[in-house]
Amino acid sequence: MTTPDYAEKIPNNIALGEDRRLQRALESWQPNFLDWWETMGPTLPTQDVYLRTAVNVGREGWAHFAHVPMRDYRWGIFLADKNPDRRIGFGAHKGEPAWQQVPGEYRADLQRLIVIQGDTEPASVEQQRNLGATAPSLYDLRNLFQVNVEEGRHLWAMVYLLHAYFGREGREEAEELLHRNSGSQDAPRILGAFNEETPDWLSFFMFTYFTDRDGKYQLGTLKESAFDPLSRTCEFMLKEEAHHMMVGTTGVDRVVERTAQVMAENDTDDVAAHGVIPLLVIQKYLNFHYSVSLDLFGGETSTNVANYYTAGLKGRWLEERRKDDHTLTSDSIFVDALTDGEIGLTEVSALTGLNSDLRREYIADCEGGVKRWNKILSDAGLTHRLALPHIAFNRKVGAFAGIEATPAGEKLSAADWQARKGQWLPTNVDKTFVRSLMRPVYDRGKIAAWLAPPRNGINGKPFDYDYVHL
Ligand SMILES: [Fe+2]
Ligand SMILES: [Fe+2]
Repeated sequence: MTTPDYAEKIPNNIALGEDRRLQRALESWQPNFLDWWETMGPTLPTQDVYLRTAVNVGREGWAHFAHVPMRDYRWGIFLADKNPDRRIGFGAHKGEPAWQQVPGEYRADLQRLIVIQGDTEPASVEQQRNLGATAPSLYDLRNLFQVNVEEGRHLWAMVYLLHAYFGREGREEAEELLHRNSGSQDAPRILGAFNEETPDWLSFFMFTYFTDRDGKYQLGTLKESAFDPLSRTCEFMLKEEAHHMMVGTTGVDRVVERTAQVMAENDTDDVAAHGVIPLLVIQKYLNFHYSVSLDLFGGETSTNVANYYTAGLKGRWLEERRKDDHTLTSDSIFVDALTDGEIGLTEVSALTGLNSDLRREYIADCEGGVKRWNKILSDAGLTHRLALPHIAFNRKVGAFAGIEATPAGEKLSAADWQARKGQWLPTNVDKTFVRSLMRPVYDRGKIAAWLAPPRNGINGKPFDYDYVHL
């Protein structure tokens, strides 16, 4: 069960060859996917890239590394191993056996959840498609492409579920996933952050740190699902996601490290003239990516999400580690709210507050990044610090969508916001400056001046390995 079959047109560990109908459906979707990859995927032509491909979903040695032409990457369908005794861990069906088929009453909701998750996967590939042209090193270029092919595979993962379990409607939704495009006027991606540009590598590192991390938390809730094929699909996706988190975390590390080094050497904050990104600009990019990522968690309260939980469709982050009754019918939670026009908290039932619960887990995780970046600053002998902005800052969704606030959480009038937002969010001048630093470095072992080299290479290879052949 665990070993994917690479002799198949579509590598898989679901015995696809035994289900001719599903196999035919997916094989007819495959050329459309490849067309999409050619037209909307990475624009930089390459001969081959040192990529990992999943070869086993078990605990050890799941990935195989080799130089492969990107078009020949074996996008496939891999689910984590089945636990035949798995039982539902929460909600009204707690204790019942997990579902191997979609219950009719939850069909529409499950399909919607899968489509929303599926829509984000190709969106990020579209957002990042031009970054190869300005890669700061071959190592970074390789990581970009690794993230891209895996987001493509995550699309496959969701399309598999749509094809296998949702009939004609599912197949239609699978087509739509290729027709919507990031930033498109006519058919944009479903969620706001996935229609934003990723025009430079600082944005890419911030995106993989903050926005991809939202994906990690969403997948974490779907991994708990009573619908077992969804749970197993997401469990394996989370394994790949760990690398994307690493790219973001160490990417920002390396930007901060280089900036701190130049600040300390020259005893100045004004490092733009030295060809590195000023800390204030890094902070502004952080503010932007963090605040748009907070929006991805939806409103502070949601009856839909309460229903999803009670039905068993979507659990909490690390559900089994929670020390409560896993039904939450008599619990309550304080959520962020505007009370009498002021930023505050209000008490709601734990079920309707589940979005807030997930967002808090996410925020605590994000604080970990800020802590490590501040350690880099203090190790360089600097007193400057980075910080996450207040939850009310620059929000378009939820309780604070209608107000403006400073990164410290003080309410502002609309006029003050307009006058001051350039202090906190990247201005055109900042973006133009960052873009001016984005010049490709394709020589083995070389790196752009605005970025420190990584501590480790990929799969035990050194930094100066030939990760990409152009
Ligand atoms: Fe993904
Ligand atoms: Fe990802």
